[in-house]
Amino acid sequence: MPRIALKTGIWVALATLFFSSLGLLLWQYTVQGTDRSLSAKLDLGTDFSLTDHNGDTITEAAFAGRPTLIYFGFTRCPEVCPTTLYELSGWFEALGDEGRDLQAFFISVDPERDTPEIMKGYAEAFGDRITGITGDPDEVARVIAAWHVYAAKIPTDDGDYTMDHTASVFLIDRDGRFRGTIAYGEDFESATGKLRRLAGIS
Ligand code: NI
Repeated sequence: MPRIALKTGIWVALATLFFSSLGLLLWQYTVQGTDRSLSAKLDLGTDFSLTDHNGDTITEAAFAGRPTLIYFGFTRCPEVCPTTLYELSGWFEALGDEGRDLQAFFISVDPERDTPEIMKGYAEAFGDRITGITGDPDEVARVIAAWHVYAAKIPTDDGDYTMDHTASVFLIDRDGRFRGTIAYGEDFESATGKLRRLAGIS
């Protein structure tokens, strides 16, 4: 009997060791995997050449050097885009001078209708720190895909169309690295907290 008990004990100990090692490996894999996808300058984004709302050429270089917010939407959006850009201007205002380095870009998912002129009037209605970006539809589509943003034309009853699209605000640090998102409707404290961290405000 004692010998059987001893054997059982050894097997239990070995099994415990095995499963805890497996758990540790899985934990390390998961943590490192998460870290990789967040901090590696990732497979998010791409180089591009589009037009800003002043009619000038703009490239991915505009996203580096300053803490940056990127939002995809369209000027005819009935609710989500105006709400988001209005809230965004409120975050900037709340951070005041400390957050003066923060900049934002509003990239059209409806470049066929959103001309630079229309983007300018729209973006400037929410302040002078949001730059509208539009341009060649194929190039815009490539940027949308590279950011893993969802954007689709939805036909309306009057024969026109509206756009359905991802409503998250992407956060990019000074080195051009993706740092997370602010969700649509995220509360003010949470959003401004993320922007403070992004801008390095203590
Ligand atoms: Ni929208």
